[in-house]
Amino acid sequence: METNRLSPSLAQALNDQMTKEAHASQIYLSYGAWADARGYDGIANFLFRHAQEERNHMMKILEYILERGARVKVAAIPAPGTDPTSVQDCFEKVFKQEIDNTKAIYTLVKMSLTEEDWASWNFLQWFVKEQVEEETLALNLLDKIKIAGGEKAKDDVLYTLDRDLKTMPDDASLAENATAEKP
Ligand code: FEO
Repeated sequence: METNRLSPSLAQALNDQMTKEAHASQIYLSYGAWADARGYDGIANFLFRHAQEERNHMMKILEYILERGARVKVAAIPAPGTDPTSVQDCFEKVFKQEIDNTKAIYTLVKMSLTEEDWASWNFLQWFVKEQVEEETLALNLLDKIKIAGGEKAKDDVLYTLDRDLKTMPDDASLAENATAEKP
């Protein structure tokens, strides 16, 4: 009796996404190490925390594949790529990384829609929402570095930014949670 509830193509794409999330985790880990080595403990702390979040995303997909009776294939994780050249470059790279991931999630959603696999479509909605949050978080970082002076940011401003990021919440507040009292 067939117990696999995922099509071969969607199972493969979900396995690929699992590797993408693991890759994202490695990227955040490498940027965190880069920031720490330059004395930006707060930025490093933020990026290391985020590396864990990406591992959690990977685990969610792994669990889902298993839950649907398909096979998990743990693949090699590509290297994270080059180090940032500055704090601004680091935050720009983070934003780009999240946009790339959003595109990958959208492709999966489209596949589930085409296949009329509503269980997968429903599962993936969590990731659609999560990507809005991740992009918002990355945009907030870009706003902060822009206010700090971008590439010309002075050490004292970067010091404050670094200190703030250590305690910055891991979740961005989303538009759907806004009210007139708490915009
Ligand atoms: Fe798993 Fe940053 O998206």
